[in-house]
Amino acid sequence: MSTVSIENLHVGYGNSAVLRGLSLEIGTGEILCVTGPSGCGKSTLLRAVAGLLPATSGRILVDGEPVTGTAAGRALVFQDDGLLPWRSVQRNVELPLSIRKVPKGERREVATSWIGQVGLAGYERHLPRELSGGMRQRVQLARTLAGTPRVVLADEPFGALDAQTRTSMQRLLVDVWRAQPMTVVFVTHDVDEALFLGDRVAVLGRDGRLAKVVSSSRPRTDSSVPAERAEILETL
Ligand SMILES: Nc1ncnc2c1ncn2[C@@H]1O[C@H](COP(=O)(O)OP(=O)(O)OP(=O)(O)O)[C@@H](O)[C@H]1O
Ligand SMILES: [Mg+2]
Repeated sequence: MSTVSIENLHVGYGNSAVLRGLSLEIGTGEILCVTGPSGCGKSTLLRAVAGLLPATSGRILVDGEPVTGTAAGRALVFQDDGLLPWRSVQRNVELPLSIRKVPKGERREVATSWIGQVGLAGYERHLPRELSGGMRQRVQLARTLAGTPRVVLADEPFGALDAQTRTSMQRLLVDVWRAQPMTVVFVTHDVDEALFLGDRVAVLGRDGRLAKVVSSSRPRTDSSVPAERAEILETL
C-alpha cells in the first residue's frame, strides 16, 4: 500500500515550472531517498508533499487524501536547523507535543527521552546558539521524532554534519524507523547515504522529471553496492 501517491505532478514558482509531470508511489513504511543535481527541484518536491507549495496540476495524496495544506502527521526537517532560537533545547523538542496539547509532565518525559537518544542529555537548558551545527541538527531530529509523524520529509538533514556525526545520525534514524515505522522521503546529494538509507532511490533530472528509480538491494547495511552506485551516478 502507498502512503504517498504523487500523480503527474507539476509544481513551479510563478510562471517557471520546476517539476514537470512527476509520478511516484511511496509505500507505507518505506524510506525513499531522492537525489539529483542542484536546482532540479528536490526541495520543491518536499515542500509540495508537505503542503507548503500548491500543485500547478496533478495531485499528491497522503493516505488517500489530497494534500491541500500542512498537517501535523507530515513533518519537514530542513538542512539548516529551523529551531526556535529563544527556546531551550528542551522546549524546542517539546514543541510538537505542546501543539497537540500533551500534558506538561508527559511532554517533559517524552522530550527528555528523545534528547537522550540523540546524545544530548545534559544540554536540555541550552539555547540553540550555544550548540554546534551538528548538535542543533540532532535537536531538530529529536523534535521531529517526538511528534511521532507518520510521514517524515527530510531535506538534506545531515548535509552539514561531519562524517562521523552523519553516520551516527543515519543509524539513529534507522533505529527509530525500525522501532516506530514511518514513511520517510529523504533528500540527499550523497549517493552512498541514499543507498544506505533508502529502500529505493529516486533520481530527479534537470528537466524536472523522474530520471530513474533504483532499488537498493542492501538497504541499511554497511556498504553500498557498486553497480547501483554507478547506475545513479551515470544519471547525475
Ligand atoms: N522560492 C522560490 N522562488 C522562485 N524560484 C525558486 C524558489 N525556490 C526554488 N526556486 C527555483 O526552483 C528550482 C528548484 O529549486 P529547489 O530548491 O527545489 O532545487 P533542489 O533540487 O532542492 O536544489 P539543491 O540541491 O541545490 O538544494 C531552482 O531553479 C530554483 O531556482
Ligand atoms: Mg534543496
